[in-house]
Parts: sequence; C-alpha cells; structure tokens
Amino acid sequence: MKRVAILLSGGGSNMVKLVESMRGDHPAQPVLVLSNDSTAGGLDRAAELGVPTEVVDHRPFKGDREAFERALIAAIEPHAPDIICLAGFMRILTPLFINTYAGRMLNIHPSLLPKYRGLHTHKRALDAGETQAGCTVHEVTAELDDGPILGQAQVPIEEGDSPETLAARVLKQEHVLYPAVLERFAAGNREPIFLG
Ligand code: GAR
Repeated sequence: MKRVAILLSGGGSNMVKLVESMRGDHPAQPVLVLSNDSTAGGLDRAAELGVPTEVVDHRPFKGDREAFERALIAAIEPHAPDIICLAGFMRILTPLFINTYAGRMLNIHPSLLPKYRGLHTHKRALDAGETQAGCTVHEVTAELDDGPILGQAQVPIEEGDSPETLAARVLKQEHVLYPAVLERFAAGNREPIFLG
C-alpha cells in the first residue's frame, strides 16, 4: 500500500477527489495534506475527510526557498509518504525539494502541456484562439511544469468562454484525470492516460 501526501495552497477540490478515490482495493492511502497557507480551504476539507494536516507557511522564510523546503521536508517525512501529489500547490520548488522526491512526485497543471506552462493558462489559451484546452498530470522534474506526461484530458473551448467558464470545465476533467493517473502510478504503471 503506497502512502500519499497531497500538497495544496487553495480550495483543494483536486485533493478531495484524490482522497475519495483512495478507497476499497486502491493501491494507495492518503497520509497527509499539507499547505503553505493556514487559511487554505483544503485544510478544513482534509480534516473533514479524516486526513492528517500540516501547515508550513512560506512567508517567515522571506524568499529563502531552500530553507522553506527544508521545513517542508521536515514536516512531510514523519508521515513517510511514497508519493507526493501537488494539487494546486502554488510555490515554485527548487531542486532541493524536487530531488528529495524524484520519480515519486506528481503535479496537475491546467493546460495541455507543453503548451502554457506557468500561470493564467486559460486566459492565454483563449487569447491565442485555441479550440481545445485541458489539463495534464506529469511527473515533477527540475523544469517548471515539465517532466514525463502521465495523463492528459482535452476539453473543448466553447464560443463565449471566459477564463472562468473554461477553468470550471477543465477542473471537472482534472477531477477525473488525477485520480485515474494516481491509481495507475501507485500500482507502478507510468503509461500515460489520454481522456477526451
Ligand atoms: C487546479 O486547477 C490546478 O490545476 C491548478 O490550481 C487549481 C487548484 O484547484 N494548479 C496550478 O495552476 C499549478 N500551477 P483546487 O485547489 O480546487 O484543486
């Protein structure tokens, strides 16, 4: 049984779907939800689901990313996770953290990578006149929003879409894709899943 830690900064809707999926004869179990923001809604939702939570606020580290990451690792390690899932964790990670969890850290990104790394993905896709948007789950490597793709879901862009309406449609697919990828990954299968 693989132990999964989920890192988030916001509402945690992906975290909820991941936790809810790890039931029955699933090859993984949630052991920790950690946030860099003590006000993140995802922390309350994790507690309601009975998952232990931790907070490591990045602000006292005043931009010293490695010191923040050493504190993150110190908070994570007692929970002995085999897999780290980033689920809306909005801090850029350095090689210190990434190398600690090399080959066992996943991220979900709201675009069809390699297109639109970084922020404001939906606005950028709309501005570029794309007809398809989507989301990607990938292994985390040293480059931002890069690393082997483990799953991708396409979502059509509809006439009149705003970044908000598109984000809501993509998020629904994130909730399907991420649990599907995690289940495969926890079972040792890195073959990508393509939806849509
Ligand atoms: C999700 O859309 C996720 O793809 C995105 O943040 C949102 C978190 O929502 N992640 C990134 O932009 C990472 N660069 P949630 O807190 O409801 O899961």
